[in-house]
Amino acid sequence: MSRWPGDRLLYGGDVNPEQWSPQTLDEDIEAMTAAGFTFATVGVFAWALLEPEPGRYELDWLERIVDRLHGAGIVVDLATATASPPPWFTRVHPRAMPVDRQGLRLSHGSRQTWCPSSEEYRHRALALVERLAARFADHPGVVLWHVGNEFGCHNLMCFCDRSAEHFRQWLALRYGTLDTLNDAWGTTFWSQRYADWADVIPPRATTAIPNPSAELDWRRFCSDAHLEHYLAERDLLRRMSPGTPVTTNFMVGFAFSGLDYHQWAPHQDVVSNDHYLGNHLPHPYTELALSADLTRGLAGGEPWVLMEHSTSAVNWQPVNLAKEPGQLARDALSHVARGADVVGYFQWRASVAGAEKYHSAMLPHAGTQTRVYAEAADLGALLRRCAPLAGSRTLADAALVYDWPSRWSTDAEATPTQEHRYIEEVRAWYDALWRAGVTCDVIGSEQDLSGYRLLIVPSLHVVGDDAAAAIRAAAESGAQVVITYFSGTVDVRDHIRLGPYPGAFAELVGVAMEEFAPLPPGALAAMSVGPERRLPDLEREHGSVWTERGRAHQDTEVVAQFSEGPSAGSPAVTRRGVGTGSAWYVATRLSPSGLDTLVAELVREAGVEVPLPSRPAGVDVVRRRRGRHTWTFVIDHGGRGVEVPLTGTDLVSQQDCAVDDPLLVPAGGVAVIQSVVDGVGTSATGSESSQVDIA
Ligand code: GLA
Repeated sequence: MSRWPGDRLLYGGDVNPEQWSPQTLDEDIEAMTAAGFTFATVGVFAWALLEPEPGRYELDWLERIVDRLHGAGIVVDLATATASPPPWFTRVHPRAMPVDRQGLRLSHGSRQTWCPSSEEYRHRALALVERLAARFADHPGVVLWHVGNEFGCHNLMCFCDRSAEHFRQWLALRYGTLDTLNDAWGTTFWSQRYADWADVIPPRATTAIPNPSAELDWRRFCSDAHLEHYLAERDLLRRMSPGTPVTTNFMVGFAFSGLDYHQWAPHQDVVSNDHYLGNHLPHPYTELALSADLTRGLAGGEPWVLMEHSTSAVNWQPVNLAKEPGQLARDALSHVARGADVVGYFQWRASVAGAEKYHSAMLPHAGTQTRVYAEAADLGALLRRCAPLAGSRTLADAALVYDWPSRWSTDAEATPTQEHRYIEEVRAWYDALWRAGVTCDVIGSEQDLSGYRLLIVPSLHVVGDDAAAAIRAAAESGAQVVITYFSGTVDVRDHIRLGPYPGAFAELVGVAMEEFAPLPPGALAAMSVGPERRLPDLEREHGSVWTERGRAHQDTEVVAQFSEGPSAGSPAVTRRGVGTGSAWYVATRLSPSGLDTLVAELVREAGVEVPLPSRPAGVDVVRRRRGRHTWTFVIDHGGRGVEVPLTGTDLVSQQDCAVDDPLLVPAGGVAVIQSVVDGVGTSATGSESSQVDIA
């Protein structure tokens, strides 16, 4: 990644000068420079201007823009502009338009109007990329290629005949023979056995519950079909523009779950993400934190790019909440704390026309004399002072396993309860860790699980044998491992693992569950604690959503059992010593207070380090480290202010502070305390040296 300026934090966002007169760019560059803007994503939706007619390309205007930005010291993330084909594309290639599950072929008029399996789209897109790469490969201002945009956001699935053919090719590679496919999909059930490959189709609208194994493979295929296109563009760029890294912006966040980013991440030279707040959630900032931790997990712990987020309101939620004063910095720093070395927004200048004219931007309609622009400029100045932390790693002793296939299969039809949503169980646990002040890596079950003191495995419904073995090994080698209900139930084909639940983990956690007994909406199941009274506070707790009927093995401690409800007498929370660690099982959705009780015990047993254990509620504390230097981020979402007894220099207020002269972070404020670890520290990056200069 020769051109990547990894020695500082970059700051900026999407710039769309094609929406404005050329003179506006002069004003923009002045306002950008004043705001510390150093990173511009250009050309994301420019295909219609770059190729106004089939095969006629106009790239000069784009080059002028890239030159101007480069001349102003702003590095460019150049989009391949293939996200949205122009209207002529529909006319010339009507069969490349996506078809929905009901068979309706869509038309242009919005964006991402293309079928991921379309050969015509592939051909036209690569022809454009070739032109762009030929023109910009050697441009000194282009530091990153940005393929497409938010793959699958609007065209995740296409049910057309070409997609059906592509799906069959994908299945033939996965299964080899039709017999193996029939076995994998369990097609003897409901007379679904296929006698001819030509009969295999995408799960189009049908009469009743679709085949769940086929549906799960379809989800995998849709993710792979988009990935195939990404790889085609990436490979062309690598060939024509070697040395410039290639990325595409993921959508790790509450609103999208369509792509299995664990499959995508290894193909990114740098992982990028777009994140928007879910303002319908009680604490959107914990969902932000979860998404950022998952993005870092996808990046294998390395720094990543926050390609887009918003300075204030978006325009696509039912009610688009404007951010409170100070929230812009809190949100951005929550990402930086969790490993983002680039902070980008959608977008630089608010549009006057089009579908997103009510979306906030760094430069609002009202201009530079605005709170949003002023806060954006303050953040730019702060990120410049934070330059020394670029490349450092976020420290985490704990990990939470996240899995897209489990999410897809859990959220499908015909499960024990539609009240159980995968992400809600994940969030319940993540939020409890957040409240406890535990920074956690959010990783895939096939990533390296060793080395964590605490490992949370929420509702890992689909699990392969290797992943199950790795989770067991983590417990055996000393971790506190928590597995929650509906985990381990099916294999990767979505076939039940015979024997007691939780299937792949039943022996590890030492329980034999016989039956799932979910609760009606809103119902609760009271609990009582086991004879050892390890966690007496659980006596006051209730489970919701899910219970199970069964028993614990003799060597398994029943920490709590259901005392009421359909599973009265069955274990609710168990613990079993395994090797030098423990395997816990939780057979219900615990309330936040129940989770707090359990997480406090887990943190204690695991010896997880919690920076600032006695901070007020709503304060996020996360630490990054490189060599002997640490940066402790303190972000007060709670709005009460917080005293920070740490020794170092706060890069926000530019004050020195000490344990006996604590820093006072004001209500709703942020601090980034740079400290030197006494003695020689272990280096999270593996490098020991780190000369820290505060610009
Ligand atoms: C994503 C897209 C942008 C824009 C924003 C709106 O980030 O990439 O083009 O649509 O969402 O929030």
